[in-house]
Amino acid sequence: MTVITTPPSLAHPSHEGGDLLGIRNLNVYYGESHILRNVDLSIAPGQMVCLIGLNGVGKTTLLKSIIGLLQQRSGSIVLAGADISSQPPHQRARGGIGYVPQGREIIAQLSVRENLLLGLEARPGGISRHRHIDPLVFELFPVLEKFLNRRGGDLSGGQQQQLAIARALLGKPRLLLLDEPTEGIQPSVVLDIQRAVARIIRETGISVLLVEHHASFVRQADWYYAMQKGGVVASGPTSELSKEVIQRFLSV
Ligand SMILES: Nc1ncnc2c1ncn2[C@@H]1O[C@H](COP(=O)(O)OP(=O)(O)OP(=O)(O)O)[C@@H](O)[C@H]1O
Ligand SMILES: [Mg+2]
Repeated sequence: MTVITTPPSLAHPSHEGGDLLGIRNLNVYYGESHILRNVDLSIAPGQMVCLIGLNGVGKTTLLKSIIGLLQQRSGSIVLAGADISSQPPHQRARGGIGYVPQGREIIAQLSVRENLLLGLEARPGGISRHRHIDPLVFELFPVLEKFLNRRGGDLSGGQQQQLAIARALLGKPRLLLLDEPTEGIQPSVVLDIQRAVARIIRETGISVLLVEHHASFVRQADWYYAMQKGGVVASGPTSELSKEVIQRFLSV
């Protein structure tokens, strides 16, 4: 089987005005375990990029490194021209990175409204300056408006995922990181989430970095990066994703 491996320097056509996110030669460890190996990745403004790879290759580790929950041992992460490599997570969030973690991490005891308000904490000035919930999130996910006073923990998995995306959006990110937003979710809600992500990009112009196993959602992205053993081993436009590559890097 042939997989086209693009050299990092050619991995992505740089945007005219510069990349929104640029990762260069990133190495991340858990203790002495070397997880991410010389990762290069770029995202242009308004672009949707998908990260694919089998279980345990380092996709979540990369997203956690971008938001700052993990610190790299070497390499750099640049957001809109500013090196954010040594910033703590809250500063990166206020700088424009929204993060929807794998497993959603909704606060079960808080209401849907309170979970949403937490998202405003990522805005400059935080929740003391911002109390307004942008109605776009209710247009995207009407169920959230219906269940505003319900406990987060009482929502279904699909509804919690919608809440996690809405919470991240309320921080008004320039870049949204989505870690397996359709994992363990029923097919009809998977489609709702796919459509919502397309609409978010269309209407807000933000960039998205998506980790995903559903081939149809992967193909919705403009560009893909495929990971193996902590490194990027292939990348290209998703229009060129062959069945072979999909089979090799998605557990389908
Ligand atoms: N907290 C941790 N401590 C030590 N090793 C870890 C930790 N979290 C993950 N790892 C290891 O790091 C590697 C990459 O894990 P990661 O969660 O990034 O993979 P992934 O590609 O997101 O997998 P999945 O598709 O299952 O979500 C794996 O070998 C995993 O066992
Ligand atoms: Mg993961």
